[in-house]
Amino acid sequence: MKVLAGTSNSKLCKDIASQLKLKLVNSNIKRFADGEVYVEINENIRGNSIFVIQSTSNPANDNLMELLICIDALRRSSAKNITAVIPYFGYARQDRKVAPRTAISAKLVSNLITNAGANRILSVDLHAGQIQGFFDIPVDNLFSTPIFARHIKKKIKLNNLICVAPDVGGVERTRALSRRINSSIAIIDKRRPAPGKSEVMNIVGSVKNKNCIIVDDIIDSGGTIVNAVYALKNKGAKDVYVYITHAVLSGEAVKKIEKSQIKKLITTDTIDNTKKIKNSKKIEIISLAPMISEAIKRIANSTSVSSLFK
Ligand code: R5P
Repeated sequence: MKVLAGTSNSKLCKDIASQLKLKLVNSNIKRFADGEVYVEINENIRGNSIFVIQSTSNPANDNLMELLICIDALRRSSAKNITAVIPYFGYARQDRKVAPRTAISAKLVSNLITNAGANRILSVDLHAGQIQGFFDIPVDNLFSTPIFARHIKKKIKLNNLICVAPDVGGVERTRALSRRINSSIAIIDKRRPAPGKSEVMNIVGSVKNKNCIIVDDIIDSGGTIVNAVYALKNKGAKDVYVYITHAVLSGEAVKKIEKSQIKKLITTDTIDNTKKIKNSKKIEIISLAPMISEAIKRIANSTSVSSLFK
């Protein structure tokens, strides 16, 4: 078993390799002058099980192309099998036709990764569980909910908690977290008048005098969360904490969070945001390296991955 690091999140790759007590595969990943990706594997990997780690985060197209070319290089170097470890699976939000004559890019990307030569996928909190079915190879989808629940119990230590889904799509995830911390749930009825814009229509459930925990898979522009916090506060919520797996944090998102009434936003390192958040007072990162490396170990040893979440 060997681990190859893509360049989208070098820190996470190093942390995973160190947890596994492995050296990263010696490789050369660079760009030609015109931006094309070049990948060379500098050691023998014939007959090895290879885990290639690459989040398809911003710049999504470059990082996706790099992943595909890494897989192609591994396949042509006679790897025995290739697991694409994609902590943040980009393009996942286009998982259905939202209007006539639109693409389903999550399916297209799944086809590209499979056709490049991946034998298995390992990802974290896929935007929608059914994306697993877009692949005809095994997919292991890890959850950050148990890690978030542990953090709430150890660090937040508040009573009178309620978990809040920032939109209807997040209800399942919110219910899973509420079960682990033994709280009730509320649901925000969110509307998207245009891509990138969101409005809160209603809140289902009472949040008055409660400490709210909003949980979501992605924070991108920050609009969904900032509007949700505003609406919760207007309905008499006490402190609002936010737990997000993938911090895309585009544009002014960090500034919006800092200015908002969010008490604390806790996220993970599926996307490397070290530079973006270095001056942030509200954003805290929890590393998923231990969970991802444990899943890699279990896949390599053909033992259960799902039992990680029991
Ligand atoms: C949408 O269904 C996702 O779960 C997130 O709520 C969304 O992507 C967040 O986007 P933004 O931060 O731009 O509102």
